[in-house]
Order: sequence, then C-alpha cells, then structure tokens
Amino acid sequence: MTRKLFVTTALPYANAPFHVGHMMEYIQADIWVRFQRMMGHEVHFVCADDAHGAPIMIAAEKAGLSPQAFVAKIAAGRRQYLDGFHIGFDNWHSTDGPENHRLAQEIYLALRRAGLISVRAIEQFYDPVKGMFLPDRYIKGECPKCGAKDQYGDSCEVCGSVYAPTELKNPYSTLTGATPVLRSSEHHFFQLSAQRCLDFLQQWTQEPGRLQPEVLNKIREWFATDEHGHVGLADWDISRDAPYFGIRIPDTEDKYFYVWLDAPVGYLASLKNYCDSGRARAGGEPVSFDALMADPALEQVHFIGKDITYFHTLFWPAMLHFSGRKTPDKVFVHGFITVSGEKMSKSRGTGISPLKYLELGMNAEWLRYYIAAKLNARVEDVDFNPDDFVARVNADLVGKYVNIASRAAGFLAKRFDGRLSADIGVEGRTLLDGLRGHREEVERLYEEREFGKALREIMLLADRVNEYVDQHKPWELAKKPENAAVLHDVCSVCIEAFRVLTIYLKPVLPALAAQVEAFLRVGPLAFADASRALGAHTIGTYQHLMQRVDPALLDKLFEPPVVEAPAPGGEALAGTISIDDFAKVDLRIAKIVNCEAVEGSDKLLRLTLDVGEGRTRNVFSGIKSAYRPEQLVGKFTVMVANLAPRKMKFGLSEGMVLAASHADEKAHPGLYILEPWPGAVPGLRVR
Ligand code: MSP
Ligand code: ZN
Repeated sequence: MTRKLFVTTALPYANAPFHVGHMMEYIQADIWVRFQRMMGHEVHFVCADDAHGAPIMIAAEKAGLSPQAFVAKIAAGRRQYLDGFHIGFDNWHSTDGPENHRLAQEIYLALRRAGLISVRAIEQFYDPVKGMFLPDRYIKGECPKCGAKDQYGDSCEVCGSVYAPTELKNPYSTLTGATPVLRSSEHHFFQLSAQRCLDFLQQWTQEPGRLQPEVLNKIREWFATDEHGHVGLADWDISRDAPYFGIRIPDTEDKYFYVWLDAPVGYLASLKNYCDSGRARAGGEPVSFDALMADPALEQVHFIGKDITYFHTLFWPAMLHFSGRKTPDKVFVHGFITVSGEKMSKSRGTGISPLKYLELGMNAEWLRYYIAAKLNARVEDVDFNPDDFVARVNADLVGKYVNIASRAAGFLAKRFDGRLSADIGVEGRTLLDGLRGHREEVERLYEEREFGKALREIMLLADRVNEYVDQHKPWELAKKPENAAVLHDVCSVCIEAFRVLTIYLKPVLPALAAQVEAFLRVGPLAFADASRALGAHTIGTYQHLMQRVDPALLDKLFEPPVVEAPAPGGEALAGTISIDDFAKVDLRIAKIVNCEAVEGSDKLLRLTLDVGEGRTRNVFSGIKSAYRPEQLVGKFTVMVANLAPRKMKFGLSEGMVLAASHADEKAHPGLYILEPWPGAVPGLRVR
C-alpha cells in the first residue's frame, strides 16, 4: 500500500543562520523522507522560516531594517545550507506569508466559535521609553530572594529561585534601561483548562505509536495534579499588544497572535503554498491542499527537538482538533547535538559552523553518515566528537563500503569491458542472498528511525563482502589467465554486493548513490531493487567515489574565526553619577588564593580572595560557566570590597568580583573577569 506522508521539521527562527543543531534535525528528517520515497511512498516534505515575535522585531530594528526585510535577508541565506547538505525539502516558505495569515486567523476564529477563546485584562511590565510591553527576557532586576543583581525576569541564576518578573526588585528594561511600569491590557487566551481540552489531549497523546515513551512520561508530568488537587493545563495566553511583528487578531486593532500560535500553522501554510504552486504532484497529477488534508490516509509527521515538545504535543494538537482540523499522526522528538560534550548556545551555535564545513571542502555526506550513525529513535543527545568522526568515516564508510567498488571495478573494466558475469556460482549467490535477506530488517530500522542500528547492520554486511574479497584475492586471480572466469565472477559479485549496499545506504548518502547509479548505469535505486539481480549488464567506468577525511580539516573546522565580530553591549548607559557617587564604591585589587566549585550550584564558584587585609575573604561569584577553578587560582582581579556581606544558601559572600557581560546573556553568552596589569598587588585601590 502506498502511504501518503506530510512531513515537516521545526520552523527555524528567522533571526540567525543555521547552526549544526538545525542541520542535525534536517538530516534526520531527510533520511527518513528519502527512505519513504525509496519505498515508493508519496511524501510532501516542507519547512519555512519562523518569522514573527519580539526578538526578531528587535533584532531587525537594531539592524536598521524592517522586520520583513530582515527576515528576507536571513531566508536568502538558507539555500546554500540545504543544498550543501542535500536536504530535500519540497518547499521552503515563511510564517509571514499570506497563507499563514489566513490559516492562523481561520483557526483562531474556529476556536472562538468553539467557545475556547476568552479575553481578560492582565497586568504586565511596560517599557515607557520604548512604548511596548516587555517580554520576560527583556526585564532584569535584583532577585527577590537573594538580592543578586541583573537577574532575569523568570528565575535567579545565583540562588536558583523562580518568580514572576513583577517580583524583581529595582527592575529595568534591558532595551532602554528604563524602569518598567505595570500596565493592564486585554489578552486573548486559549482555554486549555477546559475539561474537553484535557480529555482530548489525554486521549490524543496516549494513542499507541504516536509519541515516544519518554515523551509520554514527560507529558504525564505536565498533566500532574497541582497543589489544589486540580489536574490539567493552564489557559494559554495567545495575544501580544502592538508593537509586535506578527499576525493581527481578527476584530482587534492592536493585538497580534503570540508567535507560537502562528508558528506551527506555518507547517500547513508551507504545504498550501507548495500545493498552490502546482509543483506538488502525486502520480503525475497535481495535489490540492484541501484534498490532501481531507484524505484520511494522510499521515502528518513532525520532526522536532526536545525543547519544543510542549508546543507540539499539547498546544498544536488542541488547536487543530478544536478548530475541526486533522491532528498530527506522529511527533518525532530528537535530542540535542553537543560538540565534544559541550552544550551549544542557541544563538551562537557550536564550534562547528555548517557553512565553514562546506567552505573547507568537507564532504556533506561524511556529516550525514556520522550523524546518522549516532541517531536512534529516543530523545537522546548526540555528541560530535572529532576523533570519532574521522574514525567512523575513514574506517567504516570509506574503508568498508567505498573500497568494495574500487577493489573490483578496475578488473571488470580492463579485462571484461565492464560486463558483469551472468552466472556467478553458488558461493557468490549465497553471499548476495545473505545481503538481500537483510532488506526487510534494514527497512524496519529506517522506518523506526534507528539509523545507528541500520548502519551497523549494513557495515556488518560490508564486512562479509570484504571477507569474500580477501578469500578470493582478485589481485592474485588476475595474475593467471586460466583464472579469468573466476576473476570475472568474483568481481561481478563484488559489484552486485556494492549495488545492494548502496541501496541500503542511499537514504543517508544520496549524492554518493547518484554517482554509483551513474557508474553502474542503472536508474534511481529503490529498496525493491535490492531483491533483483543486475544479471549480465555493462557498467560504466569507475571514478573514485569518496575521499578519506584528513584529520587536519577538523583542526581547521574548529579554529576560531580570525576576526571575531565584537558582541554589541546591548545595554543602555546608566544615569550620570558624580565623582562622589563613584568614590562610594571601594574597588580593590584582589589575589585569588583559592577557587573551587560549589556543590549544588551550577552557576557559582567559591573564591578565596586576598585583599591585603591580613585575612582572606570568601566570595561567591556566578562565573562557573566561563572559568574552571584551576584557571583562576593565583590570578589577580578587581573586587568591590565595601559591598554589604550577603548571606547566601551556600554561606556568607563578602564582596563581589568584577566581570564584563552582555545585558542579554542568553543571546550573547560570554563572561570576562577583569585582570589588572602586572605589578598590581592585593589591596591597592582602583580609582
Ligand atoms: N521557531 C521555533 C520552532 C517553531 S516550530 C513551529 C524554534 N526555532 S529554533 O531555530 O530555535 O529551533 C529549530 C529546531 O532546531 C528545533 O527543533 C530545535 O529543537 C532544534 N535545535 C536547536 N538546537 C539544537 C541542537 N543543539 N541540537 C539539535 N537540535 C537543535 O524553536
Ligand atoms: Zn537569587
């Protein structure tokens, strides 16, 4: 039976180029999609830029562009990554496209008709200088619990407490430095607290095979009973006040959908845009969006990362169901990619720039193969390890698979005009039958997204073929003319085995497979072709298919760029002070005589400081993300020596060391402790 599939990946925010995390998601989905196509199924695979929201509006403003122009500039950079890594989306659209405006409004109106939209006034911080309501991430202040300065509106990075932005002491807007004021405005809510929403989601999420077991466990926690014995979800605030870059809420003048309301609708919008373009086809016939979505056989599949599970397994199915639409059939959640064990920052990415990878001439399929080898169906993080990368590509991909062709092709061309032997004898047939016998297993593993297992299986098959070559030694056979027939058979078996392995690897290595198809002079290979023999067939000339990785390339890949763009400070200047104000702050040179991690805190380091007082001071500092204790011991720095001691969960802190950072640390991570020029001694005053 031919399946009909509508497959998406998460829509990336249109405020930055892709990082390797995006590429990992696209590679995972692309392999699955290519596999489905090779099974003869109908697949529509789309994505789009997620254009809306306050951060993009603000980034555009900083860049001196309209949000539309800013997003268009980012969108224009997408192609080279997608082509470069052979990601075969059928369509790339934008959530700011007309289709999405219409669909989002239609869905909202349907929810309203269903009685699931309520409107009520809420109080929120408003920046009177900027003239806009402030999202939590643009509000900072002092922690209401421990008094730590410059903490975000939702939680304290020093003591770990969680609170509402309105609880911050001395709050300020990171956009203008202004003190935000509380202001009331009407917000629209999707009433997820309604019993029918809960009932629907309980049933939808538990449908067997829809979600991974660990995702289901997480959802059970979200459904957990609260302290009032209430089971269920809170209503979801889906509106934002102008100025906002988004889609206008019908029947309002100045209210827009919160970006996460219209973002997933972008999946449908991109599919619609694709169908309306006339390019979407099934069996040569154009596909209509409405007909496709109305087809009960259509399977809607979303690939996403673990951080956006909530939106895709609760909000999105509820939006679709209660607006009378088809709900997703499967949501496949993956973990995050780390690089040499290190988490990457959302905005800066990792040490691996996908574009630099391509610019260095590194083969995109090395990365596809490596990532596939590490992927499974669970929500596990995947680590990119440079040594492991070189080993897997060189030893397995090139050493085991590519080599098979190079070992046999030369003899076939030189001695037999490229003609394959039609009758290859029992041993060769047994080997090939063994390979073909694994077809269903390989198919099952691809279907289940167990790509790592699939590749291990395929490499074991490649081992068998190499053992066969080693036993029969074509290079020895070639020395004696009387062995010509055997040589012909052995090389023909190798080529046929190589063809079968190529079919199994094709979802992962589409460009290589295309080269092989040209070399073998066969049409596009599908899984069913694995069970058919080529027979007496003439192949083309072999050209080297894939290089080994030169480990030096990885050093280059990880070299920091020569010119690092200076991170903008992003912070408005504080109000003017007098010299007397400044003199109140007693800054001293301090020597870090000891430094250690603080048990139970992933933010703090405990510093023992000598400030020339004949005793040492104990200071807790939130710099663990930037420095290891051993880097700091013995160094000099600057501290505020007359700050009132502060009692913290871990002990008394007697002062503060100075470090530079961006106002929006989440978007611009990086923390730099101050160090005096050589010669300064503990206790000297900084004035
Ligand atoms: N715009 C939202 C998604 C809206 S979907 C209707 C968003 N964008 S994102 O650009 O931040 O992330 C896009 C996808 O990349 C998400 O699935 C996210 O989980 C994934 N990844 C982001 N960092 C990642 C890694 N380090 N590793 C793997 N995937 C990662 O969220
Ligand atoms: Zn705190």
